[in-house]
Amino acid sequence: MSLASETLDLAVIGGSGLYQFPGLEAIERRLVDTPYGPASGAVVIGRFAGRRIAFLARHGEGHSLPPHRVNYRANLWALHTLGARRVVGVNAVGGIRADLGPRSIVVPDQLIDYTHGRVSSYADDEGVQVRHIDFSEPYAASLRRELIDAGRRAGIAIVDGGCYGATQGPRLETRAEIARMKRDGCDLVGMTGMPEAALARELELDYACLALVANHAAGCGEEAQISVEEIFRHLAAATAQVPAIIAALLA
Ligand code: HPA
Repeated sequence: MSLASETLDLAVIGGSGLYQFPGLEAIERRLVDTPYGPASGAVVIGRFAGRRIAFLARHGEGHSLPPHRVNYRANLWALHTLGARRVVGVNAVGGIRADLGPRSIVVPDQLIDYTHGRVSSYADDEGVQVRHIDFSEPYAASLRRELIDAGRRAGIAIVDGGCYGATQGPRLETRAEIARMKRDGCDLVGMTGMPEAALARELELDYACLALVANHAAGCGEEAQISVEEIFRHLAAATAQVPAIIAALLA
């Protein structure tokens, strides 16, 4: 079933610190009733940079949903139902790789999933036909490229590639966990990248991640502890760049 009256040029899922999309002129707010329950909130459809886009705050507009309680299936289903075919997920992350310090912006090209207990497929219900999707490349190459080109055109540095490690949260990781993730090849750590990317692939959506580095991951910086105030300060600075990147992508 499609509830789309017009096609959407893009959908953006906002992460921590991005609860409304600056500059988006809202036309309508849609609360979609999905077979998987409610999405994180209303999808705001409106005009931005001359295009029609949809925006959904992953954690709810008041950040009421922690990463392990986000209804990822409902969120992507709602966006798909409203006509989205391309989705950019904006995710706060910690930097593991030495050059990925606070305020870096990264478009990862790989991921490793360390989450557990999250419903991670639309084929979870009895009787539903299982589809083993190819996930060798978890992000859409074309949309990744467009994001990186958009950053270049907007004069905003974007790091091309990196491996996103998705952890369960909501707590931050131990130094030992980050050391293991580093050995595994992770460059970034975040709590919301999965199962979002896999569900997007199941729905055949083009999906890419725009990762905003808020802090050095545990044991990767100078400080003995990670300050949550610092996380939100750096995140706000990186988030402020997102509208210009998306505007350039849509241009
Ligand atoms: N770990 C996991 N998720 C995060 C972090 C982190 O250090 N920073 C922002 N999101």
